[in-house]
This record gives sequence, structure tokens and C-alpha cells, in this order.
Amino acid sequence: MLSKKNFVCLAAVLLIMAMMFCSCTKRDGDEKPSPKPQRAELSVEKQDFGTTADGEAVELYTLTNSNGLKAKIMTYGGILVSLEAPDRNGKLADVVLGYETLDGYVRNNPYFGAIVGRYANRIANGEFTLDGTKYSLAKNNGENHLHGGIKGFDKVVWTAEPFKEEDAAGLKLTYLSKDGEEGYPGNLACSVTYTLTNDNGLKISFDAQTDKATVVNLSHHSYFNLAGQGDGNILGHRLMINADRFTPVDAGLIPTGELRSVKGTPMDFTQPFAIGARIDEDDEQLKYGGGYDHNWVLNKTPAASLLRSKTAGALAVRVYEPTSGRVMEVYTTEPGVQFYAGNFLDGSITGKDNKIYKHRYGFCLEPQHFPDSPNKPNFPSVVLRPGQRYTHITVYKFSVR
Ligand code: GLA
Repeated sequence: MLSKKNFVCLAAVLLIMAMMFCSCTKRDGDEKPSPKPQRAELSVEKQDFGTTADGEAVELYTLTNSNGLKAKIMTYGGILVSLEAPDRNGKLADVVLGYETLDGYVRNNPYFGAIVGRYANRIANGEFTLDGTKYSLAKNNGENHLHGGIKGFDKVVWTAEPFKEEDAAGLKLTYLSKDGEEGYPGNLACSVTYTLTNDNGLKISFDAQTDKATVVNLSHHSYFNLAGQGDGNILGHRLMINADRFTPVDAGLIPTGELRSVKGTPMDFTQPFAIGARIDEDDEQLKYGGGYDHNWVLNKTPAASLLRSKTAGALAVRVYEPTSGRVMEVYTTEPGVQFYAGNFLDGSITGKDNKIYKHRYGFCLEPQHFPDSPNKPNFPSVVLRPGQRYTHITVYKFSVR
């Protein structure tokens, strides 16, 4: 027990320390941010974010971790609206592209920040056969089906349940996709849980169960720019993908079925390379994608049980942005990752802070099963049957160098 005298001394020391801390932060001012982001209170806050054309109310949740990182997620499309992460001086910036209001997303969203499903990426001719029955899906990408169809999971309103853990703030989103939706068989009960952890990870856990055999492939579609959203193109980011092979595509971006070595090609990111270093090379695969828009076959597929608690030893991708010092690492239970270099961005979208999103101003890393797997028997299966549980965990983790 402290004596009264000792207690008074301790209180005085603490007070002096607090005053010194305050005067330091004041003296540094806004121009020279303190080297570490300020400690913040772990929190989840809710606000209204408007209504859809169908009159459905949309909510926006702000998750804040103890280091001051903030993730804003809305119930429309399960969209990550903003994500603030510190640079090497501790200065926070929003590192994902998007709109300021719901209206922008509803009007024209090239999947900024969205949950994509029931099948992320492409299914050739919008068709597949399962247990002898042929299913026809909505075609929304030329002749092909892309990211779940005309009204995919990126355009539905999810039900939200916020939560706090000792070292994380989170949001659980649920959605029931009805039998026949966009042509898919089976009622699919889905949940997507975003957890912003105190080790600066944004963990996304996907779960699904069905009452009829179906195909499932859920992913997350943020466009990242680690220099800050809208602040230049992403060509200077240095990228490492832990993958010796990729799935080459045809002119419609449908995989041929081959798993091809990246060795000696511009697809080789086994060692870090600037995204822009080879993107415009005279290479057939790059021509088809207008740049990188391909699925890499990851060398490691860690178990969900590992990624639930820690990420050690399971690195899939690392991206480093030299001017800000920001590093993003991706860990996933999925066998593949689509790396898309924002080739379709063309300056026609004005996003948050009135920033114009020009060619290659953002890149996506979409952990997933391989595109067109329902039609490729040699690819890992995407079939989900009654009684089984689909699980996918991806962590986007932020640090600085
Ligand atoms: C995915 C696809 C791209 C493109 C974007 C959205 O990443 O692979 O071809 O459709 O989504 O514009």
C-alpha cells in the first residue's frame, strides 16, 4: 500500500509528466507530427449514411483502434469507405479510394471497398454445371459474369452488429442471399466480420452456409494507394507476391486453366518490384489486362485457425510505398490473389476530397479462389454443400519502414 505522502508524490510526478507530454505535442504543431500516432480510445461509432433508392436505411460505422487507426464501413455493400493509417512520421492518411457520400457509391462504383460475391471475379459465359444441372448467371461483363452479377453483394444492404474486444474494434455484417439470386442455387447465409486490431491489422472473416449445393467465392475489393487516396498513381509502390505461378488468361480475362510459372516474366513479384517497372512491357498477358489484372497462385495457404489469432509465417503479399514509408502486408487463407492495378480508372471519377482518380491511381489485392473455378475441374473447388461451412480469412496489416 502507498502511504499518503508517497501517493501525493506519485500524483505530482504523473501530473508533471502529463504536462510535459502536452507541451511537447503542442510545440511540435501540425506541420511536424509526433513520430508515433497518438493513443486513442478503442471505439465503434455508428451514424446514419442515407437511404438507397429502394428506401433502405444505410449505416456507417467507424472503428478506431488504440493507435488511432480508423476504418469506416457502411452497411451498403459492406463497403470500406475509408481507412486511415499512419506514415513513417505518424501522420494519418486515408489509403483507400471511394466517395464521400452514399450517392456516389450507388451511382457508379467500380467496386471501391466492396465485399464481392457470391462469386468474386469472372465466370465464363455466366454458366456452370453442378451435379448435372446447368445454371445460368447474370452477365454483366460482356459475355461473362463478374463479381456476383448485376446486383452482387457489393450492392445489397447488410445487417450490422458492432462489437468491441480487449484489443480490437469490429463489425459483423450478415446477409441472406436467396435461392436463385443472380442465377445461383441455394439460400446462402453469409457473414463478413471486419476487425480492426491493435496490431494495426484489418482482419476480414467471411463465412457462409447453404441449403443446396452452390458455388461460393467471397472477397474484398478495396483500391489502395499507400501514399494517400488520390495522391498520384501507384506505379512507385514496391510489390512482393509470394507466388511462383499465376493463372494466365484469354482476351476476356478468363483463365485458360494453366498454372504458369512467373519466372522470367513481368508477373514475377517473388522479389519486390515497383508496380510500374514492367507494367507496359510488350507482353501478351499484360496486353489482355491493360496492365496487371491477374490471379496469382499463392505458395502458402495457412489454416483459418492460424489467421484467427496470429499471422506469423503466412505472408502472401507485401507492398511498400517509399515516400510515405507505409507498408501493407496481406495474409490470407485463400489459394489465390487477384492483383489489379487500377487499369480501368481513367479520370472520370471524382472521389473523396474532390480527388480525381486517374489511370492506375489505386490497386486491388483480392484474395480469392481462382477465377472461373466452377468451369475448371483442375482448380481448387469452390463448391459448398449443405452441412459444410465456407470460411475465408484475410488480414491487411499496416506498418511503416
Ligand atoms: C476486378 C477485375 C477487373 C475489374 C475490376 C473492377 O479486379 O479483375 O478486371 O473488373 O475488378 O473494375
